[in-house]
Parts: sequence; structure tokens; C-alpha cells
Amino acid sequence: MRFAIFGDIHGNLEALEVVLAECETCEIENYLCLGDIVGYGANPEECVNRIRGLGALAVCGNHDHAVVGAQNLSYFNAHARDAVIWTAKQLSQESKNWLKGLSLVEHLPDFSIVHGSLHSPELFNYVQTIKDADYNFRQMDRPLLFLGHSHYPLAFFDTSPMTYTLDPIIPLDPSVKTVVNAGSVGQPRDEDPRACFVIFDSEAELVELRRVEYDIDAAAQKILDAGLPQTLALRLTLGK
Ligand SMILES: [Fe+2]
Repeated sequence: MRFAIFGDIHGNLEALEVVLAECETCEIENYLCLGDIVGYGANPEECVNRIRGLGALAVCGNHDHAVVGAQNLSYFNAHARDAVIWTAKQLSQESKNWLKGLSLVEHLPDFSIVHGSLHSPELFNYVQTIKDADYNFRQMDRPLLFLGHSHYPLAFFDTSPMTYTLDPIIPLDPSVKTVVNAGSVGQPRDEDPRACFVIFDSEAELVELRRVEYDIDAAAQKILDAGLPQTLALRLTLGK
């Protein structure tokens, strides 16, 4: 089966539409969302509706949690906090109810998905180092885990010693636990501003990282027009 797995959309409809158009050419059978559908970008309601329309299985991100009042806002920096407050005003009650119903973790037969970390997922810790990945390896009862949150795509392997890769092609070995960070659709932070997502082919035992160009200027202008912090528009251009 071929899965498209993506997250950290952050209300960026321009980026999401380009990713989904790319998916239509990739024989995708199943869509999975790693959370943070909203927050930062100017189209939160539209992004929630798009994900719901796909029938994607989604987990809850910290921004999704915050806009429905489930997360203490002191966790966020000033710009993120402004965006959470603005986003909460844009969302319909129906969308808020849907976000409220998202789980922190979902387990599929061969892999799991989470926004931040499988180790205490409610704390939304980042998985950025081999040590962070090790906490996850110890919690995994499936060989493969997909997550987001850092907006930085990479994969960690529970080999001896543990290793990681930044390569866009990630071969899987079912005997080696693997954590894949799918990067960010709507606010990449690895200095590559293109929208990022992964395709997991379970038969080929392969994960492929994809990058797609989108209309960054349009998404950035919408952020400015909405009166959201200017830096949220600028960082789309910089990809960091
Ligand atoms: Fe995020």
C-alpha cells in the first residue's frame, strides 16, 4: 500500500493544495496527517476541511490542541501565541469539535503516527537527536514511526550504534526500528522553503521524501493581510 504522510500544514492552503496535487500523481491509497493542521497560516478553516474531505487519519498537534483550549498558551512564543488566538477566531465550531476529537497517537498494523514524540506525547517534545529518537525506540511496539513537530525532515535508525540520515530515499528494514520525521507542508525550517511530505510504500519497504514548490508569495501575503506577525510571512520565504 502507498501512503502519503504529512503534517505541520499550519494553515498554509497554497502549500497543502500543491502537495495533494502531487499525491494525485503518485498512486496514493491512504492519507495520514501528523497534526498541526492550523496555526501560523491564514487558511486554518480551509486546511481542516481539506484534510477532513480526504478522510485522512490525523493526530493532534500542539497548535491544534491550543486552538481548542487544550494547551496552555505559555508554552508558545509570542508570535505563535498571537497566531493561536487569531486562528481560534477563524475556525468554525464544527472544525474545533473535529480537532478536539483527534488522538495524540494512532497505531496502524505496521506503524504508528504521532505529532511530537511517542514518549509522553502530551508533552509535544521534539525528536531532534539520537537520544530523543532512543526514547521513541523504547516506546515503539511497531518497527516504524512517523512524526513531525520540528519541521525538519530526517530519519533515525535503531542500529548499533544508532544512526540517522538526511537522504530523501529511506530504505526500511523491518528488523530495525525507524523513526521518520516527515518535515512540514506549510512552514519548512530546514532552509528549503518547498513544501515537504513523505510517501511510504509498504510493499517496497521504502519511504521517499518529496519536496514541491508552491506559491510562497501568495501564502505570505495572506498572512500579512490577516494582520498576523510579519515574521510568519518572512519565514516561509526563508524556509526556517
Ligand atoms: Fe508545527
